Amino acid sequence: MNHEPILHGSAADADQGLDVALRPRGFEEFIGQANLVENLRVFISAARAREEPLDHVLLSGLPGLGKTSLAHIIAREMQGSCRATSGPALVRPADLAGILTNLGAGDVLFIDEIHRLPPTVEEVLYSAMEDFEIDILIDTGPSARSVKVPLQRFTLVGATTREGQLSAAFRSRFGLSEKLRPYGSADLAEIVRRSAERLSVEIDEDATHSIASRARGTPRVANRLVKRMRDFAQVLGEGRITTPVAADGLARLGLDTNGFDESDRRLLLALHRAGQPLGLKGLAVAIGEEEQTVEDVVEPFLLTQGWILRTSRGRCLTERGIGWATTAEPVDPPSGQLF
Ligand SMILES: Nc1ncnc2c1ncn2[C@@H]1O[C@H](COP(=O)(O)OP(=O)(O)OP(=O)(O)O)[C@@H](O)[C@H]1O
Ligand SMILES: [Mg+2]
Repeated sequence: MNHEPILHGSAADADQGLDVALRPRGFEEFIGQANLVENLRVFISAARAREEPLDHVLLSGLPGLGKTSLAHIIAREMQGSCRATSGPALVRPADLAGILTNLGAGDVLFIDEIHRLPPTVEEVLYSAMEDFEIDILIDTGPSARSVKVPLQRFTLVGATTREGQLSAAFRSRFGLSEKLRPYGSADLAEIVRRSAERLSVEIDEDATHSIASRARGTPRVANRLVKRMRDFAQVLGEGRITTPVAADGLARLGLDTNGFDESDRRLLLALHRAGQPLGLKGLAVAIGEEEQTVEDVVEPFLLTQGWILRTSRGRCLTERGIGWATTAEPVDPPSGQLF
């Protein structure tokens, strides 16, 4: 299905600029996740007082919850520079070695999608993390030998949407491991308010809450909705996101009062039609999305809101889900692609 993934937490190309423009620069701008922020603040100030680098940090959580933002904040608070790369970009051990040997003391190496590091690269990272040295192979053939190269004491910040795919050995090498959770409505409302301000558009309090309640617990989705509502406000309203502008705009994007989009409705109706639990594969086929999208994007929201259940035999509707599906209209064709 090729509809606008307005509610998907993962970044689309169009989000890159928005992400950077709205990214919180310091802990004071980072809203919510109070426990995690408190922990990091304590560990950072302790490390700074000892004049040591921070322990390696693993950040896990669904797309769009703030892992990349936190990695940059950590680097800033530690007053080091941040070198960012990602698991799939580090193809050979030499790619990683080149980056490691250029890090200064106290710098942060941020590896996004760290669960996608090739095993050979992961192995090099082990000794870098533990002993701050790596073995580099020089020469080939009979004169080949490995040389130990010392590294500056750096901090690795790894981010993953799939913590379960990291080996126990890898996970245990991080001194700190923090999980980001979906945001509550008060935090999302605050994020909506702040983003509207940064995007220079005025917004009513009611509109703030209706946008926040459609954001599926995800700041990136909240930001995307604010940006779309700003367009509606310019064209249909008087430049202000009023309550009617937001209600109309959200409806035009196909988001109903339950916060469902088309994928949600399709998934619930597919389960209802099946009349028995469905596996991930069956659901993905039924709604025309990839399995990973179902697992990372569609399902978490429906699970946490009590519309579906995960059982050993597969996914099934809850009472609430059955109630909705029994009275639901058949799924509309994709809403008029306005944007
Ligand atoms: N706690 C927060 N407070 C305010 N804004 C936030 C917060 N967390 C995330 N955001 C906003 O959401 C956007 C997406 O966050 P970020 O890129 O850090 O997510 P991510 O977890 O790295 O996502 P991905 O898994 O796709 O890489 C940020 O640019 C920022 O604007
Ligand atoms: Mg990220």
